[in-house]
Amino acid sequence: MKKDLKNLDIVVLGASGNLAQTKIFPALFALFSQGLLPEKVKFYGFARSQLSQTEFKEQIMPNLTCRYTPDHSCGDFVEKFLERSYYCNGKYDSIDGLNSLASHLTKDANRIFYMALPPEIFPMLTKSIAMAGLLGSDADKWVRVVIEKPFGRDRASSDELNSELLKEFSEKQIYRIDHYLGKEMVQNIMVLRFANQIFKPLWNSKYIKCVEIDWQENIGVEGRGGYFDNYGIIRDVVQNHLLQLVTLVAMDEPESLDADVIRDRKLAVLHDIEIVNIEDLILGQYTNYTDDPMVPDKSLTPTFVNVKLKIDNAEWRDVPFVIRAGKGLNAKKNEIRILFRKPEGNIFCQLDNCPPANELIIRIQPDEGIHFNIVSKVPGLKMQFQEKDLDLSYKSAFGDAIIPEAYESLLLDVINGEKALFIRNDELEAAWDIFTPVLRYIEENKIKPENYVFGSKGFDRICKKE
Ligand code: NDP
Ligand code: BG6
Repeated sequence: MKKDLKNLDIVVLGASGNLAQTKIFPALFALFSQGLLPEKVKFYGFARSQLSQTEFKEQIMPNLTCRYTPDHSCGDFVEKFLERSYYCNGKYDSIDGLNSLASHLTKDANRIFYMALPPEIFPMLTKSIAMAGLLGSDADKWVRVVIEKPFGRDRASSDELNSELLKEFSEKQIYRIDHYLGKEMVQNIMVLRFANQIFKPLWNSKYIKCVEIDWQENIGVEGRGGYFDNYGIIRDVVQNHLLQLVTLVAMDEPESLDADVIRDRKLAVLHDIEIVNIEDLILGQYTNYTDDPMVPDKSLTPTFVNVKLKIDNAEWRDVPFVIRAGKGLNAKKNEIRILFRKPEGNIFCQLDNCPPANELIIRIQPDEGIHFNIVSKVPGLKMQFQEKDLDLSYKSAFGDAIIPEAYESLLLDVINGEKALFIRNDELEAAWDIFTPVLRYIEENKIKPENYVFGSKGFDRICKKE
């Protein structure tokens, strides 16, 4: 029998949790309210929590916001979305609850399982899903599974997790999500680099002195202390989100937009990054971190890291890629600074007034935009310079255009089978290889992070202008 393309069942596992409620259901609603989902799409929540249908809907409703539809039709969309939503409770390591879910799923529909759960649950849940017969056997119908980071704690546990998943799903069916790849500005990095001719000849160590990826949050672990303390800042954001940014900045131009061609280019960068040593790191922990009830009193888990990556290839040798990431700092922002070299023998230096080096800033969030510090003559009779900002802030450049949430963009890709923005298994392995030895060293040697005051700047080792 031919599958009905209008049918799609999206099952969110861990539906009672923070990610499902604050990101996944709102993103599905945003796509639904724009008419971007198949006509007969249905949404299912599954978790252990005992929730009635009404309680479940009451939980997800406050986060469904109508950014794409006029206010007067908002209520209608919410109502229609909730009519298609269904909650089922059950355990992850048994098929009872899943059997009950199965009786509500649409026969002959394509299916997405979104694992919005701690990763240690994935293997047992995958087995239960298979045993409950939810993977189907209709060759005409696809089943995809989305898994959230962190994908393991190190190379070995990541390999183990993968091999468990691969017992039930093929690599083609697995979508390893890194939501940073869905962010608008992150998707713009390739456009900036490869659609603008001026950057191409300058994008290498001859012209670039240093690249800095700055990631700051002005909040602490906020109720996620149990999870965070087990992982730490390197596993939480550096090995995944921020390393992905490094690959996008450093990769060679792919010869096509094919998902595997792009991922091959990123993988080549990951293979060229030298394994991180303890000397490449500054570790920090904000004051009062251990006051969190879920964090052990003597925890040595870093909430801040400054790491210098070295890429050993012809384009980037001698260009440090500095990642600076911390929670409990004085700002919420994420940006990439590309610091150019000062031109040698510049004619204006003869006036004892050497112009400063250029700097390109890709502001990922908030206030998405691209800024280029350009040296300009100060109007007047003297030859004086000042750096001025060539400012492409999205707000002024694109007016009221709505910037989609990362999860909207990525969920649509899962539905359309687009994999360029998802992590391939070999990328994951290479990313773990860079950090696994130092993570082991830190833990085995009980390396103590330096303290920094909550709300302060953390520790600097940044790209300095010449
Ligand atoms: P939660 O801790 O809120 O867990 C989600 C749900 O999983 C809970 O509601 C609970 O549901 C179930 N659960 C939690 N712990 C266990 C356990 N030990 N055993 C069995 N079930 C458990 O996590 P989040 O929603 O914050 O995150 C889910 C995943 O997404 C994680 O891998 C996280 O790292 C990742 N992630 C989260 C982000 C976020 O913004 N929250 C951002 C990026 C990634 P119940 O008890 O009802 O079964
Ligand atoms: C998650 C981390 O992956 O990303 C969190 O687990 C972090 O610790 C979050 O706060 C940041 O995401 P965003 O989209 O708010 O920058």
